[in-house]
Amino acid sequence: MSTALQTRDLTVRFGGQIAVNRVSTSFQRGTLTAIVGPNGAGKTTFFNLISGQIKASEGQVLIEGVDITRASAPERARLGLGRAFQLTQLFPRLSVLENVRLAVQAQARKGLSMWRVADDDKALTARALAILDEVALGQRSTSLASVLTHNDQRKLEVAILIALEPKVFMFDEPTAGMSVDEVPVILDLIRKLKGDPNATLLLVEHKLDVVRELADRIIVLHNGALVADGAPAEVIASPIVQEAYLGVAPGGADGVA
Ligand SMILES: Nc1ncnc2c1ncn2[C@@H]1O[C@H](COP(=O)(O)OP(=O)(O)O)[C@@H](O)[C@H]1O
Ligand SMILES: [Mg+2]
Repeated sequence: MSTALQTRDLTVRFGGQIAVNRVSTSFQRGTLTAIVGPNGAGKTTFFNLISGQIKASEGQVLIEGVDITRASAPERARLGLGRAFQLTQLFPRLSVLENVRLAVQAQARKGLSMWRVADDDKALTARALAILDEVALGQRSTSLASVLTHNDQRKLEVAILIALEPKVFMFDEPTAGMSVDEVPVILDLIRKLKGDPNATLLLVEHKLDVVRELADRIIVLHNGALVADGAPAEVIASPIVQEAYLGVAPGGADGVA
């Protein structure tokens, strides 16, 4: 296994409060790591530090061994950090297909794409359509992005993310605010991405049943610190998760939030 992403003593303070406290960890290529912890634990802030939305007070972020701590968010995106539902912007007045095609084209121009489509129009379109099929939006390719349902817009954002071929996919509570029937669609997409041995996935998710099924590994943040790290079953069963995260007394019912 090779390390895709690493943090070293990553720390940020807001005024007197330490939101992320000396987190040192690494994420292996081809794995999905779930990040769990109570509200306010620092999960989103940890993501913000990795993707460059906020600057670290101390510590480093490395992508494939390269220190990116001082790089801007767009630079980090170019280096392969893909944050879902944040860095991607939809063009509301363009069609679904055109939105994805622009991303495919941007990636092709970088010359790094495994799809060496250059400026070949047909190839760009074919690649974009293939991605739309992957996210089950093939039927909506001619719709304007602005008329999509919330659920379909999220799928389109994932399609754009896939088109940009990031090394690391970051999902922060991807199913938050979704109705029960919509949740499986996004989870299926993440499951599919997980099938790519080159993709490194980070998932913040509250639903422990989802995490148990999808994750290769779980890390737990609490008061900004990394307090547990291991195989899903083991971490979920640990006293720190049972007590601090689920509020279940040791030996109590197998309550899942
Ligand atoms: N930009 C900010 N300025 C000040 N405090 C912040 C900022 N972002 C997050 N925090 C604080 O940092 C802590 C961690 O927040 P957050 O990372 O959003 O937690 P989580 O995503 O785990 O719920 C919280 O106490 C929150 O209020
Ligand atoms: Mg959060």
